[in-house]
Formats: sequence, structure tokens, C-alpha cells
Amino acid sequence: MKKIFLKDIKKYNGKNVRIDGWIRNKRSSGKIQFLILRDGTDEIQAVAFLPNIGEEKFKLCEKLTIESSVKISGNVREDKRAPSGYELDITNIEIIQIADEFPIQKKEHGVTFLLDNRHLWLRSKKQNALLKIRHSIYYAICNYLDKNDFYRFDAPILTPNACEGTTTLFEVPYFDEGSAYLSQSGQLYLETGIMSLGKVYDFGPTFRAEKSKTRKHLTEFWMMDAEAAFVEHKENMKIQEELIRYVIRAVLKRNQKELKLLERDIVRLEKADAPFKIITYKETIEKLQKKGSKIKYGDDFGAQEEEIITEDSDVPIFVEKWPKQIKPFYMKLDREDKKLSLCSDLIAPEKFGEIIGGSEREDDYDILKSRLEEENIPIKEYQWYLDLRKYGTIPHSGFGLGFERLIGWISGVRHIRETIPFPRMINRLTP
Ligand code: 4AD
Ligand code: MG
Repeated sequence: MKKIFLKDIKKYNGKNVRIDGWIRNKRSSGKIQFLILRDGTDEIQAVAFLPNIGEEKFKLCEKLTIESSVKISGNVREDKRAPSGYELDITNIEIIQIADEFPIQKKEHGVTFLLDNRHLWLRSKKQNALLKIRHSIYYAICNYLDKNDFYRFDAPILTPNACEGTTTLFEVPYFDEGSAYLSQSGQLYLETGIMSLGKVYDFGPTFRAEKSKTRKHLTEFWMMDAEAAFVEHKENMKIQEELIRYVIRAVLKRNQKELKLLERDIVRLEKADAPFKIITYKETIEKLQKKGSKIKYGDDFGAQEEEIITEDSDVPIFVEKWPKQIKPFYMKLDREDKKLSLCSDLIAPEKFGEIIGGSEREDDYDILKSRLEEENIPIKEYQWYLDLRKYGTIPHSGFGLGFERLIGWISGVRHIRETIPFPRMINRLTP
């Protein structure tokens, strides 16, 4: 008997196959029982018909509870009315375990209950679809980068100093050094990597002790940082645009079924695969003020401002050239106006907010040193970073993509907690 996965069911029409999985649901009427069987890849209605399988096996089926684990054999039969287009006529069943009463039922549950049961909630159809989209986006990003000659370069997680400001650092005890900090972004290390490899990226968990309790903030989230030698600010944005459009196309190609299940407006997603817009920070402030916002030049954007910025746009918008005081020390100063940083935030449409932050990096030793001094950052700790500007400095740029933010936008899921298997937020560390 051939063991198969449900995603491949088409190939086995008329054949007898075995599927290992769990019972999603069941109902019965007299001599017939309908079991919804899921195996991770998909699900199918399996039919137990008493005259066909005999009393003993029929009784086994009766014992099954939701989430019981089984090995089921049966004949695959095409059925236009079935959601997957196929049904399985059971010929044999082996029970691995009869599950206890499953805590997550068909009814509505509160979010706290679902998060407390995240280890079980992950099995639901919607969470399964989100996990599949997360997987596709991950590989699409890596494929794009690989095709475009970015080498994977793994930055450390335990670091001696901050990349994105000291207020959101997680501190951990570290032997004789005293303290280490969980990485906020691999960027500074990637800048060393390009001096060896030209173009590099990392992709992994990053940490921010974010005090903000919003639907866009996690304390542990995944970031893909990319960095490229001899790339300047404008080209940096071009790379980001190409990458995001590549990812959208990949998901539209691979995950139609999941997007539909999540009730994603697919047309809106298709529309985002068009040239992105670029506007300056200054123009953005003016636009916001015209729309009634109280924001002043020099302020950072909050969630509300980000939502207004893209409200009449189908595509993401780059907001470029921010005042240097509200951006990190490593960003290159605009040589035409040294009060500005050559940077960009990429804001997703449909109120999803910032998904990427990037910039050209300051490549002049003296300017970078004075930027560190201005921000009262100890030079000694960043000497290794300054060294890069001493030994063959070059124009270079990079960006960091918030993986969960991108998943949220592409899948249309409003709260970031559902875009990662086990969300970590200020008030959530378990399970
Ligand atoms: O804009 P950020 O802070 O940029 C950096 O860390 C740069 N060093 C990256 C680089 O240039 N290589 O963070 C990058 C992205 C943001 O645009 C956002 O999408 C996401 O990371 N992000 C978060 N996602 C979830 N939860 C949080 N607390 C996040 N903070 C940032
Ligand atoms: Mg940012």
C-alpha cells in the first residue's frame, strides 16, 4: 500500500492509498461516517461505509475524537462536490491514539485563550495557511537574493553593542565581559561581510525590548538584512522594490489556496506588483499636515501617520531622506544637505505600515566618528566598525526587512502575533 500526502491526491484517482494524519472533524448518519482527515499538506473527506468495511472497523471509526491520530487506507474517488475534488472510501483504519477532548472547538475563542494554547492553535486551518505562506516568503526572499549574487552571511546573535539604539536592548549575563546584548539587527556585521564577498544577507531572529504594545511589534522577530558594496541610496531602493515584487509574485503563484482561505483581497495584492513610489520625508510631512495631522517636521511617524501615507496608493511607498536626528548614526549624510540621512523607510499599503528600513552607510571615517561622538556612543566599542572606513572604504548600502510585517501584509493578517509560530511580546513568553 503506497503512503501518500494529500497534496498529491490528484495523481492517485482510482487507486488504493494510505494517508497518515489526524481527524479534523466527523459526522455520521446510520451506516455511514464521514471523517475529515488532515495530514499537514491538505485535508480530505474519508468515508466509512459499514457494508464495505465491516463492523469491527466501523466501530473503530466511531471511537475517533477530534485530533485523534490515524493511519487510513482507502480508494481515491473524484468527487466534484468535495472541497479538494476528491474523497476517500475507507478500506482500513489503524488508530494511533484516541485524543483527549481538544481544547480548541469550532466556536469562537478569545485571543488570550488561543495564545495560551498556541501549541494547539497552530493546527487550525487559518494558522496552517499562514505557516505555509511564511514558508513561501522565506524561500522567495532567499531565492531572489541567491539569484542576485547575495551570499548568506550569518551575523551573531550575542553582541557586545547596540545597532539600533540602547533603549530596546535585551541584556544577558556574559562571563567576564559582564553583559552581552541580543542582536537588534545584523547590519553592522554585514558591512564587514561585503568587504569580503561584495553582497551579503542574513536572515534570523532579532530582538527588541519594545515597550510598545501594538499589533506591529514583537520582542523577538525575524529580520532579513541585506548589504551591498558599491550600491548607493537610489539603487538600494531599487533592490528592495525588486525583491518585494518578486516575493509577491512567488506567493501569488504558490499560495492561491491559502490566500483564499485567509480571505485575502488578491486583486489588491496583484496591484502592488507595479513601480513603487518615492517621496521625501519633507514632502510626506507636508502631505500629512494637509490631511489634518498635527505632525511637525522632525517628528518620527506613528502607526497612524504610516496608515495615512499610503491610504491612496496601491503600491508601497518609500519615504526617503529623513532628518539625521531621528535616524541612526550609521546612515550616510546627504552631501547636498548634511542635515539629512540618505535613507528610506518602505511603507506598505492597506494600513500595514513600515516593512523595510534601509540606507546608504556613512563611508567617511571622520564623519562617522563625529556622528558617534554627537550621539555619545563610546568610540572604543565601535572601533572595529570604524576600521572598515580605514581599509578600502567604499560607497555601500543595505536594508532590513521585517519578516513578520511582510507576512502580515501579504497574507492580510492584521495582528503580527499570528505571523510567527510562537509570538514573543511584552506580556507573552509562553508557550
Ligand atoms: O527599521 P529597522 O529598525 O532597521 C534596522 O534594524 C536596520 N539596521 C536594518 C538594516 O539596514 N539592515 O528594522 C528593520 C525592519 C523594520 O522596517 C520593521 O519592518 C521590522 O524590522 N521591525 C519589527 N518587526 C516586528 N517587531 C518589531 N519590534 C520590529 N522592529 C522593527
Ligand atoms: Mg525603521
